[in-house]
Amino acid sequence: MFGKRGLGDAPNATPTAPVAAPPSAARVAASVGVKPAAAPQSATRPAAPMSAPAPRPAASSASAPAVRQREPEPNDQPEYRSEAYYRVKSTIFNALIETIDLTQLAQLDPESSRDEIRDIVAEIISIKNVVMSIAEQEALLDDICNDVLGYGPLEPLLARDDIADIMVNGANAVFIEVSGKISKTGIRFRDNGQLMNICQRIVSQVGRRVDESSPICDARLPDGSRVNVIVPPLAIDGPTLTIRKFKKDKLKLSNLVEFGSISPAGAKILQIIGACRCNVLISGGTGSGKTTLLNTLTAFIDPTERVITCEDAAELQLQQPHVVRLETRPPNLEGSGQVTMRDLVKNCLRMRPERIIVGEVRGSEAFDLLQAMNTGHDGSMGTLHANTPREALSRLESMITMGGFSLPAKTIREIIVAAVDVVIQAQRLRDGSRRITQITEVLGLEGDTIITQDLLVYEIQGEDQNGRITGRHKGTGVGRPRFWERARYFGLEKELAQALDETESA
Ligand SMILES: Nc1ncnc2c1ncn2[C@@H]1O[C@H](COP(=O)(O)OP(=O)(O)O)[C@@H](O)[C@H]1O
Ligand SMILES: [Mg+2]
Repeated sequence: MFGKRGLGDAPNATPTAPVAAPPSAARVAASVGVKPAAAPQSATRPAAPMSAPAPRPAASSASAPAVRQREPEPNDQPEYRSEAYYRVKSTIFNALIETIDLTQLAQLDPESSRDEIRDIVAEIISIKNVVMSIAEQEALLDDICNDVLGYGPLEPLLARDDIADIMVNGANAVFIEVSGKISKTGIRFRDNGQLMNICQRIVSQVGRRVDESSPICDARLPDGSRVNVIVPPLAIDGPTLTIRKFKKDKLKLSNLVEFGSISPAGAKILQIIGACRCNVLISGGTGSGKTTLLNTLTAFIDPTERVITCEDAAELQLQQPHVVRLETRPPNLEGSGQVTMRDLVKNCLRMRPERIIVGEVRGSEAFDLLQAMNTGHDGSMGTLHANTPREALSRLESMITMGGFSLPAKTIREIIVAAVDVVIQAQRLRDGSRRITQITEVLGLEGDTIITQDLLVYEIQGEDQNGRITGRHKGTGVGRPRFWERARYFGLEKELAQALDETESA
């Protein structure tokens, strides 16, 4: 074997620092931009008497200056609306639904349907004598168009590129994750009925429906965002929607370096690992950046290689010319037609792949992926859910055991050791930042134990005055990793040696 042996269990890089109190809540709130509650209160007050044609309400003259005073803020912060606003909106919305022919509207392109709605809403506003500034009318129009044509109150959130996840826990609690931090928004739905309609609209696009008899559903938005819906009676407080926003511009390795997720030398090592066709597992918790990391690694695949990707929902964006993308399929309403990850990976092997990439390994497909890695499909990769590289390997073992393969534990470990070259650990730290915390090699079996060796670990040093975790990526002194020969075969050994040197002087 090359290089020095690992210390077996050394869990050195896993930051197990005691969980500190979360940084000030005020900062979190500020970053969402929730408006001070008082401001919009006056905005829609004049609208109280809605019956048409209404006599000019006495209150309106009193509150008119308030309406005027409020500078038109064209929709900059659509998060907060007053109770009165929702009342007006609901009246206008109902009048609109009575007037408009929804089936005809559906035939128009989005632009024309918006115009159509705009005209009718303007008319309703004038008939019902609602006093509103132009800016307020515009905001209301947008809101109503979003309800009729899109995903209602979710639209402004879906339009934001800085949001990673949107979490809706019933009509009145919408949370978002921005830069690793979760915070509550002022967005709300009219009621759980409206939220349920929106859920229905989302899942209908993948030919499903949600209701009491099938209360759980996965779906995808047209932009590629992944959606999970779970509704009552399983979700106790109302329809619950979780959206992992699709990022059009996926992060590159250089971005990860910029963010401090990995050091420049660490990035170089990752690049070599990707280029010299090591079999790689990326391990991490939910939202720790596994898929992102996998995507960045694929950038170093040679353009001549035939790559096949298998995912539950296509997220990876490979830039190579020769890529086949496969996606699993959930069972249909009658419970048939399911295509599992295992089906896909098995089929892959008959498609003459050079590399197989599995978005997320969760079950018995682990076995087929390892077989692929062991049968000449070097450079295959996958992500899985685990907190340390060591745990990732044992998870892999239990996936195979639970998949119904009756193999002795030792045999399974032998397969794992022969297949997996490197495990990369991703982690979301308590300050919300994402780091690559370990690059670990699988060396072999000693007795019944899998021997691993860390090449690079992230050491937490402390916290700066903003509550952000500081630390550094440090080499462990391994001069010749096990994939050294591989790197040499690809003419990358000098670069590897240099990168390893740099990690130590870091
Ligand atoms: N190193 C990073 N720095 C900042 N944001 C990141 C980083 N890695 C991932 N992200 C963002 O975190 C979110 C979750 O990442 P993803 O790769 O989908 O996680 P996972 O696959 O582990 O669930 C995405 O919005 C992604 O853009
Ligand atoms: Mg993922």
